[in-house]
Amino acid sequence: MKLIQKTLGGAAVAAIALFSAATAQAEEFRLGLITPPPHIWTKAAEAFGAELSEASGGAHSVTVFPARQLGNEAEMLQQLQTGALDMAFMTVAEVSNRAQDFGAFYAPFLADDIDHAGRILRSDTAIGLLDQLPAEVGVVGTGYGMAGLRQIVSRGEVTSADDLVGLKLRITPFDPILDFYNALGAAPTPMPLPAVYDALANGQVDAIDMDAELIWVLKYYEHADTVVQSNHMMFPMVGLVSAKVWAGLSEEDRAMIGDLMGKHVDSTIDTYVAKDRDWLQQVRDTGKTYVEVDQDFFGDAVAEWNAIWSEKSGALDDLRQVAADTAN
Ligand code: BEZ
Repeated sequence: MKLIQKTLGGAAVAAIALFSAATAQAEEFRLGLITPPPHIWTKAAEAFGAELSEASGGAHSVTVFPARQLGNEAEMLQQLQTGALDMAFMTVAEVSNRAQDFGAFYAPFLADDIDHAGRILRSDTAIGLLDQLPAEVGVVGTGYGMAGLRQIVSRGEVTSADDLVGLKLRITPFDPILDFYNALGAAPTPMPLPAVYDALANGQVDAIDMDAELIWVLKYYEHADTVVQSNHMMFPMVGLVSAKVWAGLSEEDRAMIGDLMGKHVDSTIDTYVAKDRDWLQQVRDTGKTYVEVDQDFFGDAVAEWNAIWSEKSGALDDLRQVAADTAN
């Protein structure tokens, strides 16, 4: 954060209240994310920056650094903790590596469909989980976004879950998805998003776990024989502000930044709800082998995942209740 005036330097979120008298001042914020420039998250980050600049009468600006320019998510989260980075739009996957309760979002088949995933993310229970972030992770969460539901793209034929056994299958690097594919007997291969295209194209991995937008827009399907529409997990995103940076903001700025960032991450939910099915339809229309499966396809893996994560995440039962309350 480049400060035009010297700000208060808060050491911990617990001290936020002490700094509540901080006065508004012009700031140039830096916001990092791993998605490429045309991605929906990156567009939402840019729209947030533009609206913050306008709402602050030009006092504040946000420079967006897409495509891992500031490092991978683990590195960006560290930068947020030290205050070296101001803001990020980040996978909840990365956050769940530091705060295990968030792993509950990845309960296989928690959401019946994309609309249901949106309702779960907008629930008071989901929003309430964000309260843990300052103390546990050193960041302030402003709200959730998403990147649709997860599917499987394979270089070989897939007709049953047995065909996934032993496959080098790319996953986003986080434990809930690792546990799922381990339960299936695959060989899950953690790999950050920017490395996925080449790895699939050159056969470094046999299959990938991915969302509909990227399967279609980045044309991952071109390097595969089979697309398995499984919708097996939701893939939430969260808008984050460094707790150290937050501590130095005035009440007025916290409200403005919290509201606007929350609004723009939330807007991605509407975008995926509107587009997810169309992307999948377009992939299907290419004539690729396209297999539609449900929970039964995955056999015991779902129950195995539930047994592991009911121990690891205290939020699982609460999110299941939300899912039941908000089902179609
Ligand atoms: C992924 O790791 O698959 C991913 C990360 C960010 C946005 C979308 C997908």
